[in-house]
Amino acid sequence: MTSQVHISTHPLVRHKMTLLRDQRTDPKKFRELLREIAVLIVYEATTDLVMEEVAVMTPLGQASGCRLRERVGLVPILRAGLGMVEGIWNMMPNAEVWHIGLLRDERTLEPVEYYSRLPVSPTVDVCLILDPMLATGGSAVAAVDILKRWGARRIKFVGVIAAPEGVRRLTTAHPDVPLYLAVVDERLNETGLIVPGLGDAGDRLFGTG
Ligand code: PRP
Repeated sequence: MTSQVHISTHPLVRHKMTLLRDQRTDPKKFRELLREIAVLIVYEATTDLVMEEVAVMTPLGQASGCRLRERVGLVPILRAGLGMVEGIWNMMPNAEVWHIGLLRDERTLEPVEYYSRLPVSPTVDVCLILDPMLATGGSAVAAVDILKRWGARRIKFVGVIAAPEGVRRLTTAHPDVPLYLAVVDERLNETGLIVPGLGDAGDRLFGTG
């Protein structure tokens, strides 16, 4: 793995990942765990956000403080990325949320874009692409392509579980996009699912499996 790929070693992430994988975890619990893991991963993905110094008055006098200078855009890839938005958005309530709809053609496993309504020019400084699954990497590469065509300057991929194939494809296509993940698993199976993985995140999230 290159320095472009950041895999969390945090005990809370590893503990919650085990529960997320468990086939007995029902959709309600799955949604809760995914929301929590997304917050923990994004904490690690945002340590380099640019700050500016500001003064703040406490009840006892003036203190120096700082605030975020960069405008953040959360870009969930439909559907499964939706499960990562709420927790992160609670922490960054001023973030803009821009949805991108991509689905994999079941035969070719290549992504098909079906929804994207970005404004004419970028309104944010940093885009965080949110998608719990990086399988072949086709969807993530397509999402970065869309954001780059839009004019986004700084893009990060925030995922949860990845296959080595997807990590390779995304880092090769976009070496300037850092990846933040909870875990990289063994491989992809013939239907494009991550093994051992957690199944299909979209289906488990929305109870459609
Ligand atoms: C899943 C997942 C990713 C994509 C990953 O979505 O949420 O978006 O597949 O696969 P890739 O790396 O091979 O492109 P899916 O296409 O199943 O759509 P869904 O979330 O609407 O179920």
